[in-house]
Amino acid sequence: MSAKTRIRTALRIAPVVLVVPTLLWVWTRTVSADAPAQRERAGERTATERVARGEYLVSTIGCGDCHSPKIMGPEGPIEDTSRLLSGHPEGTVLGTPPALGSSWIAATSSDLTAWVGPWGISYTFNLTPDENTGIGSWSEETFVQAIKTGRHMGVSRPILPPMPWHFYRNLTDEDLSSIYAYLRSIPPVRNRVPLPVAPEAAFATPAGG
Ligand code: HEC
Repeated sequence: MSAKTRIRTALRIAPVVLVVPTLLWVWTRTVSADAPAQRERAGERTATERVARGEYLVSTIGCGDCHSPKIMGPEGPIEDTSRLLSGHPEGTVLGTPPALGSSWIAATSSDLTAWVGPWGISYTFNLTPDENTGIGSWSEETFVQAIKTGRHMGVSRPILPPMPWHFYRNLTDEDLSSIYAYLRSIPPVRNRVPLPVAPEAAFATPAGG
């Protein structure tokens, strides 16, 4: 191949050599980079995005304020991260609840996991993925329906105060799925939360759990 032919060949393939990578670069910058945005617009998230969004929602809405056992921090009780979202600790002895009346309608235990009011005593549920005592055996549908209908597991008895399901049911399906995905990703904690106590019994006997 003469020097001239080599130059001519080089000039002929140059556009291909330059254009193909340029097109690929443009494609990755526009089409593929836009894929998450397109999914977001369609309201869909990947599994990882769901867990991250769920963690954000749970930590900002403050599910742990009621659902996590607490330890004492410098500014008062804080979430016990070793038992995150595991509900009212079983075996806690609380004593007889205070008499309520006039404008004081409810009282709570020192860790905010047990509540007493006109509905009796309610204990916050174990939201960790433990198979037997948490939401380990719950499907996403069960979780979403519980929040949307205000019924235990979406089908049975009414969920008692102060669980703010009336507000949480306004979350989008995608956000509820994300909360569920996050809750399924945290360490399971074995903790069997006691059943609620009816109003007639609530003030008569020491509350245990
Ligand atoms: C103000 C306190 C409070 C907050 C905040 C709270 N919960 Fe609850 N939650 C409760 C109580 C109390 C119960 C138990 C009610 C009962 O036994 O009927 C409960 C029960 C539940 C249950 C069990 C429902 C069932 O089917 O039995 C789920 C699931 C739940 N909460 C999820 C959440 C999530 C998710 C958040 C945050 C987005 C949250 N809760 C925030 C108090 C709270």
